Amino acid sequence: MGDRDALWQADLRGVRARFPLLEQRIHGAALAYLDNAATTQMPLQVQEAMRYFEQHERANIHRGVHTLSQRATDAFERARQDLADFIGAGEEHLLMFTSGTTDALNLVAHGLSTPGVHPALLSPGDEVIVSGLEHHANLVPWQQAARRCGATLRILRPDAQGRLHAEDLAHLLSPRTRVFAVTACANATGERPPYEKLLAMAADAGALTVLDAAQAVAHEMPALQSLACDFMAFSGHKMYGPMGSGVLAGRRTALERLEPLRYGGDMVAWVSATEAAFADLPARLEGGTPNVSGAVGLAAAAAFIDQIGRDAIDRHVRSLRAHAVQGLATIDGVTVLSPAADASAIVSFVARDAHPHDIGTLLDERGIAVRTGHHCAQPLLDHLGLGPTTRASFAVYNTHDEVERLLAGVAEVLEVLR
Ligand code: ALA
Repeated sequence: MGDRDALWQADLRGVRARFPLLEQRIHGAALAYLDNAATTQMPLQVQEAMRYFEQHERANIHRGVHTLSQRATDAFERARQDLADFIGAGEEHLLMFTSGTTDALNLVAHGLSTPGVHPALLSPGDEVIVSGLEHHANLVPWQQAARRCGATLRILRPDAQGRLHAEDLAHLLSPRTRVFAVTACANATGERPPYEKLLAMAADAGALTVLDAAQAVAHEMPALQSLACDFMAFSGHKMYGPMGSGVLAGRRTALERLEPLRYGGDMVAWVSATEAAFADLPARLEGGTPNVSGAVGLAAAAAFIDQIGRDAIDRHVRSLRAHAVQGLATIDGVTVLSPAADASAIVSFVARDAHPHDIGTLLDERGIAVRTGHHCAQPLLDHLGLGPTTRASFAVYNTHDEVERLLAGVAEVLEVLR
């Protein structure tokens, strides 16, 4: 163990202490929580930030002259600014609070395909390109948007190993490409596509670009202002923050094009009995009372990540993944998806003669929490010629001992199942 690793191991004990949930036993065994791509746990400091808001500042925002309303508004807007700093947003960017990545991506797909203040961006004959690595949340909204507008949906197909290639995108781009949507990390395989390049190519071709950063934002990523990215979506609950919180960040000029998804309070400038004019951004896209404590918690989660350092977190989770990949490869009949995806915290695998649901259930009996199924990425798994998989995904608080338990658990349950 090098000095740096030894220091990190010492820090890790302190990090874990901030997550008391991890101390419990499940079916009599110590919990090994390895389902972080679905939801990470929240450290005490995030819970404390939300509790403070609820106990001292809770009120509705933007519409009140009273002190509490002003405090709540300040907390909400401060969270917006902190998150803008966290993702490296530039002067040209704005952040909208949403309930999560799915909400944000629906807002974009709906907003570009629905006429309102602007005509719909998509018309018959236009094309939308979506990568074949996507979670359903970055595919189904585009299927619906294309259908609504008579546009054509094209898929940037991965190769047989689940990797995306710039040359393939070059063949798909055309003067009719209006939108290109891609993930920063495939949730089902852990593949990290060359999204910087893909986004730049699509933007050069005149398309609006959409990045699903749900599995990437808690890790090292380029600053938003360095990317050719018009819209970027992420969720709080995958970055040590609260469920039901998330962000749509984007270029103001692109966000201006979006028809709101929700009409009502807070998103209007004036209303008569028959008409309404919409407020400026960001309010226009944040109709209704937002999840203010969620926004406060999300900003606290970003502070937690920054305190530890995204580089330190990444070194750790990548080494856990490498350990898991190496160990799984030695187990008879186990195939790891995207084994070379070394910039990721996700490892997904299939095992001969064993159904993932059975593997997951038997691992749970040993206190090990993993996710099984299609991971909301059915077209990708179909393309790879696979059915459901078993997926372990790591976070800052996981340990190499937990990886060892996973490996021993998998070997054992496969013996039982076979
Ligand atoms: N999108 C989440 C996952 O990949 C739920 O598990």
